[in-house]
Order: sequence, then C-alpha cells, then structure tokens
Amino acid sequence: MPNKKKTILVVGGAGYIGSHMVRKLIRGNHAVVVLDNLSTGNRKLIQGGEFVPGDLGDRKTLDQLFSSHAIDAVMHFAAFSQVGESMHHPLKYYRNNIAATITLLDAMVRHSVKHFIFSSTAAVYGEPEAIPIIEDHPCIPTNPYGNTKLAVERMLADCDAAHDLKYVALRYFNAAGADGSGEIGEMHDPETHLIPIVLQAASGQRDHIQVFGTDYPTTDGTCIRDYVHVNDLAQAHLLALDALLEGAGSAVYNLGSSKGYSVREVIGKAEAVTGHKIPVMEAPRRAGDPAILIASSDRIKKELGWKPVYDDLGAIIESAWNWHTKERAARA
Ligand code: UFG
Repeated sequence: MPNKKKTILVVGGAGYIGSHMVRKLIRGNHAVVVLDNLSTGNRKLIQGGEFVPGDLGDRKTLDQLFSSHAIDAVMHFAAFSQVGESMHHPLKYYRNNIAATITLLDAMVRHSVKHFIFSSTAAVYGEPEAIPIIEDHPCIPTNPYGNTKLAVERMLADCDAAHDLKYVALRYFNAAGADGSGEIGEMHDPETHLIPIVLQAASGQRDHIQVFGTDYPTTDGTCIRDYVHVNDLAQAHLLALDALLEGAGSAVYNLGSSKGYSVREVIGKAEAVTGHKIPVMEAPRRAGDPAILIASSDRIKKELGWKPVYDDLGAIIESAWNWHTKERAARA
C-alpha cells in the first residue's frame, strides 16, 4: 500500500516542475509545505499547500521550518537550471546549487529528516558515448550546471553512508508540457527553453526562433533531445517517494521518453499543433550543448513501475500551447 498523508517539503514549489509536483502531491492526499524565495518561481504557480517564503540557503528559516513541521520527506527543485547561463556565471550556480543545498542537507541531518528526492539532470553525463543513455554511463559534465548537479549526487551518497539519509536522484532529460488544467506551466523570465520559445514565436510574441547550430552530426544538423512531460516527471517523484517511505534504499534514475526529436522536428510539430508558421533564423551553436541526449528509462520502469502517460511530442506541445494561450489571455 502506498503511504498516504505524509508531510512533504517542496523546495522550489513555485517553479515550473515544482508547482506540478505540489499539485500532484495534493491530489495524492499529502500535506505540502512550499519553501521558495521566488527568485525564479512565481507565487501564482503555487496552487495549494502552505507557502513559506524563504531561501534554502538560510539556516534560520530551515531550522524554524523543520522545528514547526513534522516533515517526512524533502523534494528539492530550487536550482538554477540553464546550461548556457551556467557557462557565463558558474559561481552563481555553485553558490545556489551546491552551497545552499549543503545548508538544506545539513538542516535535514540536524532535524533527522531522512528522505530526499533530488532533481538531477541529463547534464551530468556530458557528451554521450552511447545512446540511449543508461544510468551507469560515465558522468563527465560539459558545463558548470551539470557539475553542480553531479556534485550534489555525490554529496547525497556520502550523506547516505554517514547519516542514513535515503535519497532518489532523478536525472531529468528535457522537461516539457503543462498540466491539463492550463492553470500552471512553464514561465521563465527570460525564457531560454526551446518549446516555450517556439510557442512564443507561434503566437507572435517573438519575431522568430533562433536555431542554435545546424552542423551537428544528426540527421538534419540540429540537436536532438528527449522531451518528457512535466506531469510524468511529477508521477516519477511520487513513486520515488512511496519507495523511500516504504524503506527502499537510495537510487538514481533517468527520466525521459526514450525518443529523440531534433530542434527542427520540434518546430515542425509546433507548427502542426498551433496552426501557425514559425519563422526560423539559423544561429551558431550554443556553448555547452551536446549533440544528442536520449534517455533509457528502463531502470525506473522496472524498479518502480513508472509508466509515462505522454509518449507523443505533439501531445506534449499541445499541453504547453494550452497553457501558453490561457496565460496570454489572462495577461491581456
Ligand atoms: N535551442 C534552440 N533555440 C532556442 C532554444 C534552444 O535552438 O532558442 C536548442 C538548444 O540549443 C538545444 C535544444 O534546443 O539543442 C533544447 O534546448 P533547451 O534550452 O530547451 O534545453 P537543454 O537541452 O539545453 O536543457 C534542458 C534543461 C537542462 C537539462 C537538459 C538535459 O534546461 O536543465 O535539458 O537534457 F540539463
């Protein structure tokens, strides 16, 4: 029987993936506390639970929070996550993604909170030696963002050995799409991710989309990525949570759809879904981008029974378009 009615601290619950997680936890009958400093998150994306404004790197806030709530598990979504930005501002990434996470883990150890679910990334692998990528693939990140996530994974393994802190690190490939309600979705400022940018170009909010690199060793010369729906990601966290609460050991899992689409294919699908022509400008490669990232997610399917609902990029883009159009109408 899955555990119910636990109290989960969602750090970064006002962000894109965190807000979908909060929604799913509440639907799953869990009590939720959201800690978010709103530096990149948005208050209106928090659709339930108790909101504690604050920073995960603030020891006092964490001590108050863990003293006043009986937290059963922590989910950590509060990292900076832009590969390109991390190349230019590495210390920003090291400070938030590593140093602040140490403060969080330290507080968990002090308050004897033993379960942790960590948002890791495909960027820990670097340039793949083989596709699809399995979890045992060597981890040689090619950018500071990936370095920070790998450092935390290593820290978690050490915390497990020393403090019996059990964790699941989920290595997301490209999170995409939005909840079917159209009430929450991707909302970054500035936006850097492919699908929201493509949709902005489709709706006329941008003149065009720049395609970063057309000379990659792929079928059409553009980068290939594995897009996975945000609610499927959230569902994987629920399974990981149940496993940890039932006494499972620590684990690392990939989360992807096992299918790859090139940048040009994404644009083509988005044109079909939206019915709008999307103007394209070819641009140089973006630093730090591997040519192809496609996951094998067999491990989590086998061990935790993960069954992603979305296996079609068109449906993922459609859900993002639904959010995009509702959000634009609300702002108009
Ligand atoms: N791209 C463009 N034009 C744009 C934006 C993106 O051509 O305007 C291209 C990128 O160069 C890349 C692809 O579209 O080839 C996808 O880019 P995203 O920025 O949407 O996503 P990334 O693959 O760079 O990164 C995402 C997450 C990371 C994670 C990574 C793992 O943001 O946190 O997936 O696959 F590490």
